[in-house]
Amino acid sequence: MKKIISLLSVAIFAVAILAFAAEDTKPELRPAQKIMQARVAWLTAMNKNLDAKYFVAVAKDADDLAVQAKKVGENIQNPLGKELTLAISSLAKDISTASAKQDGDTVKIKLGEIKGKCGECHAKIRDKK
Ligand code: HEC
Repeated sequence: MKKIISLLSVAIFAVAILAFAAEDTKPELRPAQKIMQARVAWLTAMNKNLDAKYFVAVAKDADDLAVQAKKVGENIQNPLGKELTLAISSLAKDISTASAKQDGDTVKIKLGEIKGKCGECHAKIRDKK
C-alpha cells in the first residue's frame, strides 16, 4: 500500500512538472497575432470548403471574418490600414452572399482579392516598421 501511494505521488508530481513545462514553452501571442492567425485559419478553411463545395461552411467563416475585420478596422487609426481592413470585411460579406447562391467562381475571385488586401498591408505597413 505504501509503495503504491509513493509511486502515485511520483507520477502525479511528474505530470505536474510536464504540464508546467508544456505551458511554459508556448509564448503568449500578441493580440494582433491572434487576430491574424484567426484570419489565416478562416481563409484556409474557406479554400478547403470551396473545393468540397461545402458552401454553408464557407458562408459561416466568411461571416466571422467580416465581423472581425469590421470590428478591428473601425479602430485602426492609419487610413490605409483602416481602408484595407474594412475592404476585407466587405469582400468577406460578398463571399457570404455568393456562397448562399452556391456561386463558387465569385467566391474564388473574392478570396483572391482578400489575399491581395492582406498582402498590401503587410508590404506597405507591417514590413515598413
Ligand atoms: C491593416 C493591416 C493588415 C491587414 C489588412 C492584414 N494584416 Fe496580417 N499582419 C499585420 C501586422 C501589423 C502584423 C504583425 C502583428 C504582430 O506581429 O504583432 C501581421 C501579421 C500577420 C501574420 C503573422 C502572425 C503571427 O503569428 O506572427 C499573419 C499569418 C497574417 N498577418 C495574416 C493576415 C491575413 C490572412 C490577412 C487578410 C485576411 C491579414 N493578415 C491582413 C497587418 C495586417
